[in-house]
Amino acid sequence: MAQKPTILTTTLWDFPSQQYGDEQQGDKNYKGATPAYILWNLLQRYTKPKDLVIDPMAGSGTTLDVARDLGRRALGYDLQPTRPDIFRCDARKLPLQDEKASFVFIDPPYSTHLEYSDDPRCVGKLDAQNRDYYEAMELVIAEIDRILRPGRYMALYVSDSFQKGRPFCPIGFDLFEIMRKRFEPVDIIAVTRRNKNLEKGNWHAAAVEGNYFLRGFNYLFIMRKPDAARDRRGPKEVAEPRIPNPESAIRHQNPRTEERPGRPAGQRNIGPGRAPGRRPGGFKPSGRKPER
Ligand SMILES: C[S@@+](CC[C@H](N)C(=O)[O-])C[C@H]1O[C@@H](n2cnc3c(N)ncnc32)[C@H](O)[C@@H]1O
Repeated sequence: MAQKPTILTTTLWDFPSQQYGDEQQGDKNYKGATPAYILWNLLQRYTKPKDLVIDPMAGSGTTLDVARDLGRRALGYDLQPTRPDIFRCDARKLPLQDEKASFVFIDPPYSTHLEYSDDPRCVGKLDAQNRDYYEAMELVIAEIDRILRPGRYMALYVSDSFQKGRPFCPIGFDLFEIMRKRFEPVDIIAVTRRNKNLEKGNWHAAAVEGNYFLRGFNYLFIMRKPDAARDRRGPKEVAEPRIPNPESAIRHQNPRTEERPGRPAGQRNIGPGRAPGRRPGGFKPSGRKPER
């Protein structure tokens, strides 16, 4: 049985496998499947049971399976559906009303590295050396903004791209800049890549010989859609964590607990910092009305 997920508390994530526990989440043999642990952590923090989670590029359906495992509702879309509960459509035009989603996750193609389908609308047919890739992703991000409820969160998982003999493409930075036009940055996580190619000695030898680097991590960008009315009223009082038993969950991750200056020794830092105007959705006082 694959290791059970735990709540992660630093901005560096690493996972032993694509799937957790003894259930299936997505398909570990699907090229480009997202690690299910990522979805588990995001949904624990930024959603609550029955929330509607959307994945506009659902691939093998990892988001849908984790969302349902956690009692969230989920809808997945893709140009090339791999199973009957994924609807065929272009992520630039989702069949959803405005502001219906409580959370959106997206793991788009990173340039032309993988062949997903023959559909000419596939973003994986667009080379990130060219503007077309970013123009397409800008439309996808605008569509996410349209369907997401104000005050709620989205996350985008992506890698930069490098191909021998061609200029480096900082896809992460470029997509982050596009998202910042619409969303507030909440945090940036680096996720270790467990790509099988990274185990090949000859890939590493070639990287040294050619004086370039292999992609060792993906970015996980977490963004919040502003809520004009609520944000004008200012931040609420400090909320308590809603994650079940967070103390035991975090113990597995980081035995060398950091101390915050001014805190009593032994007290852990749980939950994100409380910057003004920032309200992590998963940390709500129980019994209160959920954020719109
Ligand atoms: C990296 S995969 C997603 C992996 C998925 N999260 C999983 O765990 O299996 C990217 C997906 O984007 C889809 N895709 C590419 N362009 C698209 C578009 N314009 N609209 C919808 N889906 C698209 C591809 O068909 C592919 O399934």
